[in-house]
Amino acid sequence: MTVDKLHNYTKTAGLLHWLIVALVAALFCVGWFMTDLPRGAERGYFFALHKSLGLSLFFLMVVRLWWRYRHAPPPFPETVMPWQQWFARRVHFGFYVLLFIQPMTGYLSSSFSGYSTKLFGLMLPSWASKNVVFNDFFTSVHQFSSCLLLLLIFLHIGGAVSHVARDGMATLRRIRPW
Ligand code: HEM
Ligand code: HEM
Repeated sequence: MTVDKLHNYTKTAGLLHWLIVALVAALFCVGWFMTDLPRGAERGYFFALHKSLGLSLFFLMVVRLWWRYRHAPPPFPETVMPWQQWFARRVHFGFYVLLFIQPMTGYLSSSFSGYSTKLFGLMLPSWASKNVVFNDFFTSVHQFSSCLLLLLIFLHIGGAVSHVARDGMATLRRIRPW
């Protein structure tokens, strides 16, 4: 199968895709690691790192959404069956929704936790006082949506791998960052 330029995402979309993939991977690793740490300086350091990476991801998602709005995605190659295209579009849409919900609930849970929220050392305005009910609620949504996100990631990678197995690297080149 030949995949011409018309079938490829723009370089900016490719760059944003892979930057966000790297950030999501780092956020999961740090998120799981930090919650098991005992209270202390190390836990504080990784919480602050997680919050800074998550807020950076939020800003990148704003750019990504704006870019997506201005640049329609390329058509799928003919080898992708209509039901697979339908499914892939839903998964992509789910990513856009969850990658906003995830940092927003993280930020809200942090705001009601009684701890400060910093962006790489820069103190963000604190507009809420400690509230256990709100903190628990946003933490639960944050945890639940991280599970949904993980499910979508498995489906998405499964789809990508099955297409690579069938059509070769042309599938991955559709979204390369260069
Ligand atoms: C955190 C993990 C990931 C997220 C959140 C993610 C998200 C997305 C989104 C939202 C799109 C649609 C682009 C758009 O319409 O704007 C997309 C496309 C794509 N992604 Fe990912 N992705 C992830 C990981 C991966 C990985 C690991 C691979 C490769 C194994 C991959 C391969 C692709 C490919 C090939 C496309 C183009 C789909 C097509 O053919 O239309 N993605 N991804
Ligand atoms: C897409 C972005 C994000 C992802 C993928 C993510 C993922 C995760 C994961 C996997 C956990 C561990 C959940 C568990 O206990 O099993 C976690 C916990 C946490 N995240 Fe995030 N996060 C993101 C953004 C943020 C942001 C922006 C903030 C705050 C500004 C934040 C604050 C927190 C906090 C405070 C916890 C600890 C909650 C607890 O006590 O269980 N997260 N996150």
